[in-house]
This record gives sequence, structure tokens and C-alpha cells, in this order.
Amino acid sequence: MYRIIVMISMALMFAACGGGGSEADSGSSTTAAPPPPAAPKAITVEIFGDDQMKFNRGEIRVKVGQEVTVKLTHTGQLPKESMGHNWVLLKPGTNVQEWALAAMAATDSEYVPAGDAAVIANTGLVGGGESTEVTFTAPEAGTYDYICSFPGHYGVMKGKLIVE
Ligand code: CO
Repeated sequence: MYRIIVMISMALMFAACGGGGSEADSGSSTTAAPPPPAAPKAITVEIFGDDQMKFNRGEIRVKVGQEVTVKLTHTGQLPKESMGHNWVLLKPGTNVQEWALAAMAATDSEYVPAGDAAVIANTGLVGGGESTEVTFTAPEAGTYDYICSFPGHYGVMKGKLIVE
């Protein structure tokens, strides 16, 4: 008889423990806020342009929503009046050639028309030995063209920003 009572009380203790545990679990899952999605860390991307009218890279990869700083350095010696470089990121669907030809006329704003709807982000124009940078939030996933919009440069000074 004693043994039966011990077994029953042990069974009750297990039941109580089990029930208590599951109650605590369900309680925490309803009151605790879900963890926020991890935001991608901000990054700085360096790109170089030279006196040979070249960028040193044709591809930049970033993450959706990431704060991206593109730092452009002109490693040459020629002044920006003859060998100027900038970094211009264009919206998908932009006809790069048409846009760049039109941008040549924007002599008062360093070859980036003010308020141009096709531009996502752009740096200023630099000459040899100078640096410039721009910070923007990476747009939705996709592939975006970037160019130097100094007259005649877009054909070779170009690349892809890949957002993933
Ligand atoms: Co250039």
C-alpha cells in the first residue's frame, strides 16, 4: 500500500512538472516580442579611377537595405577639367547611353543633371589626387548600372552594383 502511494505521488509530481513547464513555454512565446530582423552592417566600398580613364572594379556587391558608402579616389594626376571622374548609380531601365549623352550638357552640376529622376546616388567630380564619397541605402534586389558621367567616359568607366 505504501509503495502504491509513493508511485502515485511521484506520478503527480512528474505531471505537475511537465504541466508547469509547458505553461511557462506558452507564456513566454505569447509575451516575448519576436527578435527584430538583423539589419545588414553598413559598409564602405572603395573604387579608384585613374588617368587612363578606368575604374579599378566593374562590380560591387551589397545587401538590400544596407547603408553603403562608395568612396571614389582619383589615383591619377590630371585635373578634373580634362580627366574628371565621378560615380553615378542609375535606376534600372535607364538607357545608359542616352542618359550619359544628356548628362554632358549639365556643365553647371558636374555632369549630373540636378534632381535627375534616374539617379539613385552620385558623388561629386574629382581630379587627380582627390577623393569623394556618397552614402545611400541599397535599394531592392537587382543589378544596377554605375558610370562616370564625365563626357566620353561612360563607355569604359562603368560597372554593375549587385544588390542581393
Ligand atoms: Co571619368
